[in-house]
Amino acid sequence: MNASEISSKLESARDLATEELAQITDSTSLAELDNKYLGKTSIYSEIKRGAKDLANEDKPIVGKALNVYREAMLEIIEKKSQEIQEKENQVKYESERLDLSSGTHGRSHGHLHVVTQMKRELEDIFFSMGYSLSEGPEVETDWHNFQALNVPPAHPARAMQDTLYVDAGDGEQSVLRTHTSPVQIRRMLAGPPPIYTIATGRVYRNEAIDARHAAVFHQIEGLAVDTNITLRDLRGTIETFMKRFLGESTRTRLIPSFFPFTEPSAEFGVSCPFCEMSGCRVCSHTGWIELGGCGMVDPNVFEAVGYDAEQVQGFAFGFGIDRIAMLKYNIDEVRLIFDNDVRFLEQY
Ligand code: PHE
Repeated sequence: MNASEISSKLESARDLATEELAQITDSTSLAELDNKYLGKTSIYSEIKRGAKDLANEDKPIVGKALNVYREAMLEIIEKKSQEIQEKENQVKYESERLDLSSGTHGRSHGHLHVVTQMKRELEDIFFSMGYSLSEGPEVETDWHNFQALNVPPAHPARAMQDTLYVDAGDGEQSVLRTHTSPVQIRRMLAGPPPIYTIATGRVYRNEAIDARHAAVFHQIEGLAVDTNITLRDLRGTIETFMKRFLGESTRTRLIPSFFPFTEPSAEFGVSCPFCEMSGCRVCSHTGWIELGGCGMVDPNVFEAVGYDAEQVQGFAFGFGIDRIAMLKYNIDEVRLIFDNDVRFLEQY
């Protein structure tokens, strides 16, 4: 072979390599191509090995051609290698990508418990109606929880509430509050009317636990005391509040009932939000759901806190927060609410 034959051989090898290179998309194939065109068995190495047998005047020409070939090959291979590297990195970055702005790294943030959410929602509605929030202790005196609310010792209404007594060394004087109504007493003792207040919190009863009853649950209590308060104010307040909570089409009703601390007393219910009152499992096919108790504050209660029952009137109401959460989200097991299983809680 003479110099020009060798040069054209190298040139066509370069053309071929350029064509093959265009098809390559991964680093393994690129390494193979590198070996094929520059490795020990390549045309390049073959010519280089035979160079010593060339005619003297051909040696520098072939030497230069070899260098040009090698440099050109290295350049296009290097360029391709960078392209492939970039693509491979992109795939890798995409798969390892963490969205730091979300702060979760694939895990859940955590959020307020469904009962807390419900409690705050209810509180907000009453705040918007001008009510304040009052608080009282969960370990309550028998007097606040019962006697001041017109439930004397040995009154049958105590059995209704399955009281849990606390052994505080004071006989049976301390109880785990069985309702939020003792907060009414505490608020009235704290200062004179007008009063428009609510109380929310945990209450305790010695219940046989089943799908609808828990020994610890949550109530919201409302108390309004002023001059010229009538049953119509109670009715209007419950209606306004329930419409805001469950929607404008919600209807409310009061049906006669009994509580020692209210007279007259009523149970209040709302039109079933699930069936639009046509009857379903949730409302036991009655179209109505009973939510809680209410009534006009009994004069004996005013007397217990030193208010003049001739001068002021008031209404009160109370109902379960857990129950209303179950109603709102169609949860049929109260235990689910307190088991703290994240698979349940993260749904709300
Ligand atoms: N305290 C009552 C209960 O727990 C509810 C209630 C509150 C009734 C206020 C009337 C007035 O059942």
